[in-house]
Amino acid sequence: MVVDNMGLDHVAIKVRDLERTIEFYTDVMNMAVSDRIGDSVAFLRTPAVSETADHHEMNVTQYSDEELDVLEQRGELEVDLHDFEEDLPEDGPPMLPTTGPIYHIAFEVPNFASIKAAAEELENRNHPIYRGPGRHGPGNNIFLYFPDPDGYAIELSAKMEEAPEDGGRPARQWPKSPDTWNVWRNAEDL
Ligand SMILES: [Fe+2]
Repeated sequence: MVVDNMGLDHVAIKVRDLERTIEFYTDVMNMAVSDRIGDSVAFLRTPAVSETADHHEMNVTQYSDEELDVLEQRGELEVDLHDFEEDLPEDGPPMLPTTGPIYHIAFEVPNFASIKAAAEELENRNHPIYRGPGRHGPGNNIFLYFPDPDGYAIELSAKMEEAPEDGGRPARQWPKSPDTWNVWRNAEDL
């Protein structure tokens, strides 16, 4: 082994419009700006749950002018989040449309009530929801997926199964089916 022990610390993403991204993560996601570098980088922290909260969990960095030119050549400079909604398959795994190789970024929230409230508020704002609320088989976590301004999918996740270092269960092989992705698939009103 190279690394003996670790946890996930932060993710860094490139964005088309830094100010629009900061507005989304502060207004919708209740994050705060910890620091900035020039006019192209911002560090964001999640709402402090303790006095020892870390400086940042996200770094958002403005694409360079050259990178924006490449996006424009590919026809990907403008992102219409509602366009993506129409491309979603009705059934099957939550194959979220993305504008890059990052599939989604998941934030932990306390419980189903938090996820339900978020879904309602997103609907109030006419913000697209890709999937959920639902519950994954693997991990048993409750989920909600929606896009940030660049189309990166955000997942809110609650109540994930704990995997203790000692006494955890062996890994299980799940069937490749819609029920694996969402065990609530057939639930009506939750
Ligand atoms: Fe996930």
